[in-house]
Amino acid sequence: MTLASGVAAGSIAHPLAGYRSEFPIFRDRIYLNTCSLGPLGERARRKLAGFLDVWQARGAAAWYDVWWDALTELRGRYGQVIGAQARDVALAPSVSVAVATVASALDYVKRPRVVVTSLDFPTVVYQWLAKRGHGVELIVVESPDQVTVPVEAIARAVDDRTALVATSHVYFTSGAIQDIRAVAEVAHARGALCLIDAYQSVGQVPVDAPASGVDFLIAGGLKWLLGGTGIVFCYVRDQAGPRLVPTVAGWFGHREQFAFEPRSLEFHDDARRFELGTPSLAAIYTQLGGLEYIEEIGVPAIRRVTSDLVEDLVARARAQGLKPKVAGAADQRSAIVMLPAADPAAAVHHLASGAIVADARPGHVRLSPFFYNVQDDHVAALDRLATYRSH
Ligand SMILES: Cc1ncc(COP(=O)(O)O)c(C=O)c1O
Repeated sequence: MTLASGVAAGSIAHPLAGYRSEFPIFRDRIYLNTCSLGPLGERARRKLAGFLDVWQARGAAAWYDVWWDALTELRGRYGQVIGAQARDVALAPSVSVAVATVASALDYVKRPRVVVTSLDFPTVVYQWLAKRGHGVELIVVESPDQVTVPVEAIARAVDDRTALVATSHVYFTSGAIQDIRAVAEVAHARGALCLIDAYQSVGQVPVDAPASGVDFLIAGGLKWLLGGTGIVFCYVRDQAGPRLVPTVAGWFGHREQFAFEPRSLEFHDDARRFELGTPSLAAIYTQLGGLEYIEEIGVPAIRRVTSDLVEDLVARARAQGLKPKVAGAADQRSAIVMLPAADPAAAVHHLASGAIVADARPGHVRLSPFFYNVQDDHVAALDRLATYRSH
């Protein structure tokens, strides 16, 4: 049987659906909210439990032969996901901290301008709103359609007084994929640096950070890397990092961290110069476990499955007369699908009372399928939304 749109009514299993059994939340719920918080997988839970066991048994002694190596291992393994080296990766507790540390290193005297877009996550923009009145001129490039921002519009805002272009790889408001190589080019053409918030892309969309040419690319565990809260990665391009001197600091950024020398500050010559204080080991271990899924499957295979899921979800939504807010071309769509809703919070509540986890954003219900989702999840969510609308 096919629906009016040509969408098959039944569900087609895909090769990654077997991983669903490793995410216990699916035992009694349909989870369609990875873009808010990735669900806890068994491997992540095991790694976290292992860390707690070691902490309980050995205390601080484990720093020297176990935990220190875990930091190095995580920088290296995350680096491989984005085509980079361990030395290109700094650890941070949140995107806000990572962006603020980078923002502290820029010279706004000769180059006071910072260019962002209206679709970026507010925490990125706030770094420079907080510096207005302290010599920073913030330009917010508007989106003509609330889905994406043309690179030409960003280029028009960049001038020879621009320190940085800071925008997203995947816009959290629409799921549209931005051409970050093109953004880096327009920034570099005027001598500016380029920072990309890739929190909504790394893990679900292939990223080659060095090939993209961006100077900073920030992502983390919360969403598509299945590592939970408190772990963020700041990739720093090797030509960009050593030229910059942060004006906030902590002992993890010091080249001789264990010299405990309070009279001088020599930053690492790699990305670690942007690290501040002691990372959360619970977050490090949860992320090491979550990363196993991403490494084992590989982002290209994840992308193939999620692209099919997204096209299925969009087609089914359209067949119900909905107008999903997504990018026009399939290859610019990521696994974030915005469905217009008169009262998104109430619609999400109605989904939740039917054991379907989704999210509300202004004017929209946000659904985000990942490799453990199947087409039946879309059928269930859209049916439930239809009963909500009919009331
Ligand atoms: C694109 C994007 N950037 C940043 C954040 C959050 O940043 P922070 O780690 O500072 O909470 C989110 C959502 O949690 C996001 O979707």
